Amino acid sequence: MRAVITVIGGDGIGPEVTSAAVAVLGEIGSQHGHVFEFNEQLIGGSAMDRCGDPLPQATIDACANSDAVLLGAVGGPKWSDPHAKIRPEQGLLALRAKLGVFANLRPLRVHPRLASLSPLKAGNLIGVDLLFVRELTGGAYFGKKLREGDVAIDECRYSVAEVERVVRRACELARGRTGRLTSVDKANVLETSRLWRATTERVVAEYADVTVEHQLVDSMAMLLLTRPSAYDVIVTENLFGDILTDEAAALAGSLGVLPSASLGSGRLGVYEPIHGSAPDIAGQGIANPIGAILSTALLLRHSLGLEAEARLLEAAVDGVLESAELTRDLGGTAGTREVTAAVLAQLKTRRKAAA
Ligand code: NAD
Ligand code: IPM
Ligand code: MN
Repeated sequence: MRAVITVIGGDGIGPEVTSAAVAVLGEIGSQHGHVFEFNEQLIGGSAMDRCGDPLPQATIDACANSDAVLLGAVGGPKWSDPHAKIRPEQGLLALRAKLGVFANLRPLRVHPRLASLSPLKAGNLIGVDLLFVRELTGGAYFGKKLREGDVAIDECRYSVAEVERVVRRACELARGRTGRLTSVDKANVLETSRLWRATTERVVAEYADVTVEHQLVDSMAMLLLTRPSAYDVIVTENLFGDILTDEAAALAGSLGVLPSASLGSGRLGVYEPIHGSAPDIAGQGIANPIGAILSTALLLRHSLGLEAEARLLEAAVDGVLESAELTRDLGGTAGTREVTAAVLAQLKTRRKAAA
């Protein structure tokens, strides 16, 4: 197949991990006879430096005309002045809104070798296989913002339609797994959460093979650490999903290994690791590329419909996690290049064995 992929490295370690992911996609393409055309674009602080805009029109146009978007990360201390009028993060939020990618999938499995790296007891991590579905284009992120003297307001707004579409997506994903859905809200306090819960109940009732359990977000934050293997698909609103997924990264050993897919109603998706621009390690060649590489597996699956290739890539990454020298966040000494080379080597060996 032919596919056009917009590559937006962004800031900090973003370009380092996306170029690793592009190398891996190139290898998959040449092994399986696909032609991937990569189109590089700007976002975030680096786009502000180059053209004064965290989301240039050229980037929006390129994304809209491509099959998928591969993104690194945005932000950094250089652009973090609290008084600044524009921030890199606005570019990312505007891109998500413009492309209408309302469902952010963040899968998390604990690889046995990494279980010992988690601050949690390794025994509690056996069998952890979670899929977070985070609402991505609503809530406090996109409500009206107001600053008047000593007062600041962030409006948190959700409509029934916004909740319905993301919960439907979560139900469809749940029925392909164990059919168990957990919806996370704060319905004991927030009106948006009461709307969320009632809408979720109604939508789930349409799916005979899906059951739902509701959890309050404060309690869920604790349960994720104490009983992580008890959950399967977890659907929640934008801000809760942002926080819970970084927390859950502690289960997987490092923020650096977690991928994400942001999907809308069509095939176009935005694929990015869940971590940020990691200014503390940027430019040193030591960033873990696995989150970005696993994001390309999601890209192959969800935007290009290449399920077999996605699985081959996930198996190759498992092979690396089993046996290769890993990056420092995972207790190893390897750099980004070495880990990427190990993934490429796994893909090549597996290809030879299959031939
Ligand atoms: P961060 O995710 O960038 O870093 C948190 C910690 O995890 C740091 O110690 C970092 O070194 C480590 N880490 C993250 N990714 C890693 C990787 N691949 N390999 C090894 N270690 C890794 O979060 P932060 O420091 O709170 O935020 C930094 C900037 O990134 C901020 O400007 C924030 O807004 C932005 N951010 C962007 C995104 C995104 O673009 N999607 C996501 C989160 C944060
Ligand atoms: C993420 C990030 C972003 C978010 C920021 C950078 C706007 O933390 O992708 O998880 O909060 O959505
Ligand atoms: Mn986040």
